[in-house]
Amino acid sequence: MGQLLRKTLLFGSAGLLFVIFAVSLTPITSPLPPYTGQYEVGILDLETEVERREIYPAVLKETGKKAFELNTLAITLYYPSSLLPLPSRPWARPWLPQPVSLIGSGYARLIGFRSAPMQSIVTFLLWAFGSKTVIPGVVDAPVLNAKNVESLGQVITVLDMQGQEQGQQNIEEVLELRDVYIKSDAKLGKGTLPMVVFTHGMAGMSQSYSNLLGSIASHGYVVAAVEHRDGSGPGTIVHYPDGGERYVWHLKLDDLQQVMHFNRTDTPMTDLNLKEAQLNFREAEIVETIRLFERLNRSDGAKIRNLKPKSPESALSGFEDRLNMSAITVAGHSYGATGALQALKNAPSKDMPVNGAIVLDPGKGSGLLNHDIKVPTLVMQSGEWTEKQTEFYGQGWHFDVVKNLVEKTKQGWLMTLTGSAHPSCTDAPLIVPWIMKLATNTKLDSRVALREYISASVDFLEYLRNGEKKEVLTREVTSPAGPLGDAEKRGKSKGKYGADWEVHVVPTN
Ligand SMILES: *[C@@H]1O[C@H](CO)[C@@H](O)[C@H](O)[C@H]1NC(C)=O
Ligand SMILES: *[C@@H]1O[C@H](CO)[C@@H](O)[C@H](O)[C@H]1NC(C)=O
Repeated sequence: MGQLLRKTLLFGSAGLLFVIFAVSLTPITSPLPPYTGQYEVGILDLETEVERREIYPAVLKETGKKAFELNTLAITLYYPSSLLPLPSRPWARPWLPQPVSLIGSGYARLIGFRSAPMQSIVTFLLWAFGSKTVIPGVVDAPVLNAKNVESLGQVITVLDMQGQEQGQQNIEEVLELRDVYIKSDAKLGKGTLPMVVFTHGMAGMSQSYSNLLGSIASHGYVVAAVEHRDGSGPGTIVHYPDGGERYVWHLKLDDLQQVMHFNRTDTPMTDLNLKEAQLNFREAEIVETIRLFERLNRSDGAKIRNLKPKSPESALSGFEDRLNMSAITVAGHSYGATGALQALKNAPSKDMPVNGAIVLDPGKGSGLLNHDIKVPTLVMQSGEWTEKQTEFYGQGWHFDVVKNLVEKTKQGWLMTLTGSAHPSCTDAPLIVPWIMKLATNTKLDSRVALREYISASVDFLEYLRNGEKKEVLTREVTSPAGPLGDAEKRGKSKGKYGADWEVHVVPTN
């Protein structure tokens, strides 16, 4: 063990020097590309107190504390704004959440390193790769509204991504450049803004999908990315109203005391129990996000206290009466996709007033998938997810299980984006394209992949609002059996940005 540690440290420091060298010499990381829609994007990290409850009776070995207690809800909000970046505002939010050491230690724990030096090394690597990256958008910018439109005619200072002044410009000129026609906008009035609740994958965080979610926001949607406290992320801090804190680290079955599963007193907790606990936790956080939307719409925005340290809150009052409470869609990736499907079990209902779901790469090992779905659903799989088939909890091939589930709804799509990989919808392939290319062996350009995902998602959200199908949603089935059928029967259809989609299921009603 001692020798292994020495080796690791030796390799670690050599690796460290290499990384410093590589990062200083090569543009190994790329800035995130601009969003695809017509609106400016506001960003806000928000944490609020919720009704305290224990979601699942399990106790942590390390601390003896409850593992699944819900105290606060933490989200990153991405929303449309008509305000252009002003000199007095921070242009962008750093991509890495603060403190970086929390996430570094979290990822180190996730890969099994509990020692302080290894945690420092991972923190350093994250810092080296991630610290230059910012999420485009204005922190705490006012929500898109008619008052901003009154500022037309003014001359403003335009900033670039790094916050450097680029010169003076007339607002109309800037808006025209960005293709905004806000004078006759359908999303300016009362109750017009639709919402999306997004749930991240295993080892993900609320900002791991900023390009996908910021882009959806730039098309006029209020997107809340939940930072789950279910022990699936690398690490997160719960901030109590009294100033106290609680760290929630990544959790494995081994980290829990062998507690009893409810009343079945002598049943030890299994991996499926852990999944059940985490999925229930996620569902509770989705419900709380929808309650938060209700509060924001009900003019409670000004009364909401943001428990996230150093995060502002002035934009919150702007949501009053602006949200369309009958247009809430859930979305998720991987573990989060399993969570989004689970949330549909009770939808639509008072607690879960959800009109549809966007499901990206539904989990292969993150628990059973809910089949009880009564709303339109768009399931998009990466090429990697569709090609590698595995047996799914004794129910058959994963592809078949997902296909049956979508077919049964009669109002859903199942499609595969050829040449993409499981992380293609995250920011990772945009920030470190070389590394992701080596690691995932994708054939499709990562920016094209994201644009296809974004445009299909926005087309689906628009379809939920007005019933009109566009682009890839208008296609016929091209590949009914996907990876399980004959290779020559796997037809493809071009997406808006030239990538190939395999269409497996389309609505039949
Ligand atoms: C909130 O949303 C609903 C539904 O869109 C809307 O009818 C209502 O007027 C809004 N405002 C308040 C204060 O509830
Ligand atoms: C609210 O959303 C519903 C469902 O998507 C839609 O039919 C309705 O037109 C929307 N209302 C407004 C005011 O935008």
